[in-house]
Amino acid sequence: MSEAPKTDHCYDGIEEFDNPLPAWWTAIFVLSILFAPLYWVYYQTGVEGRSAIEQYEQASAENTRLQFAEIGELTPDAPTILRFTQQDNWLSVGKSVFKSHCVSCHGADGQGQVGPNLTDEHFKNINQIQDIATVVANGAGNGAMPKWSDRLNVNEIVLVSAYVATLRGKNIEGGRVPEGREIAPWPEPPAEEEAVEPEAETAEPEETKA
Ligand code: HEC
Repeated sequence: MSEAPKTDHCYDGIEEFDNPLPAWWTAIFVLSILFAPLYWVYYQTGVEGRSAIEQYEQASAENTRLQFAEIGELTPDAPTILRFTQQDNWLSVGKSVFKSHCVSCHGADGQGQVGPNLTDEHFKNINQIQDIATVVANGAGNGAMPKWSDRLNVNEIVLVSAYVATLRGKNIEGGRVPEGREIAPWPEPPAEEEAVEPEAETAEPEETKA
């Protein structure tokens, strides 16, 4: 048996060797204690751009910029918004903006909650399709509808506006009662360069009106 010294306690005949902790183990232990405050100071004291969340946001903004390089910087006007109502791949980007920022007030399908129903034919602040982008950018109702221009990139505003424009007329069941006045239909989207198929109707024909 080992010659190492023993601690002087003994429980039910069980004794314990008094071996020192290995030096490497103690070193890691001490270093981790010294490292902790440095780590904390670096990441947690609120210096801009260092927290995991901010790094994630920077990376995802960078990714969005890369994606958007394809379409360039959009102008939030009627022809642009109408054009994107016809492009499913970009509409899905608009939809994901809507899912992350708008559903809490406008409902999962735009049927309205705190905010108005976006699936009927009635609007409070919208007369023309480009007004959607203006309301999204600047807010409305004295801030009841928040301003998004400092949180969303202009392309995101255009794409979410295009998505919102496609919600019109879906009349999702159980939605909020119509508010505001009935407005004229959106203009016809600009003709697609390649698409030679007949013009798609604005509302999906298979959707039953509530
Ligand atoms: C904090 C709740 C809230 C959030 C989040 C919100 N909205 Fe709104 N929104 C409102 C309210 C309330 C109104 C009505 C303002 C008024 O009374 O004039 C409104 C109005 C609108 C309108 C005009 C509707 C009309 O009838 O005039 C549009 C379009 C709209 N929101 C789109 C969006 C989009 C897109 C987003 C996400 C980027 C969003 N909203 C996020 C609360 C919200």
